[in-house]
Amino acid sequence: MTEVKVEKLQEFNQEILERLVEIYMRGYEGLREYGGEGESYAKRYLRWCWGKAKDGFFVAKVGDEIAGFIVCDKDWYSRYEGRKVGAIHEFVVDKKFQGQGIGHKLMEKCLEYLGESSDRIELWVGEKNEGAMRFYEEYGFRKVGRSGIWVRMIMRKDDKGQGES
Ligand SMILES: CC(C)(COP(=O)(O)OP(=O)(O)OC[C@H]1O[C@@H](n2cnc3c(N)ncnc32)[C@H](O)[C@@H]1OP(=O)(O)O)[C@@H](O)C(=O)NCCC(=O)NCCS
Repeated sequence: MTEVKVEKLQEFNQEILERLVEIYMRGYEGLREYGGEGESYAKRYLRWCWGKAKDGFFVAKVGDEIAGFIVCDKDWYSRYEGRKVGAIHEFVVDKKFQGQGIGHKLMEKCLEYLGESSDRIELWVGEKNEGAMRFYEEYGFRKVGRSGIWVRMIMRKDDKGQGES
């Protein structure tokens, strides 16, 4: 496969937004209940991500094509932790590029970025999204709670997480 590069997203124009939405919609095929209700939701959500965490919005590129992205936030107030933590708001790789190591490259970039300032990282994942949960567990994330169809996972730098409570 052509070389994969992970870089900070430089600008958020209409063309890029459309590509990100396409990745998001295709990436969550088969997991639709966790990927929003449709394109207009995706657009709003991705705009919100850009507004909230520009500096941690990383894309993986195969040649000139964006193949996936991860949105990492250094400044997230977690009401569950009762304090500021790092957060991963979105993480998705286009279906046609999944299973080729691009997710690992994005996650490494994210942890390098958040690791500078965050001693805890929070994310939410759909309860039936077992592939993603295993992926996160490999990086030391642990299931710590639930809300509806969502499972909350935390990675703690010091103790590498605690079991589900
Ligand atoms: C989770 C995701 C970002 C991983 O990206 P990827 O490029 O496929 O990941 P990689 O190729 O680097 O690594 C594959 C690993 O992901 C895991 N995985 C998670 N979901 C998977 C899926 N749907 N298909 C294949 N592998 C999946 C595999 O267990 C594999 O683990 P391994 O490295 O121990 O073999 C990607 O599968 C995806 O976009 N899924 C849909 C959206 C999603 O679930 N996002 C997370 C929501 S919180």
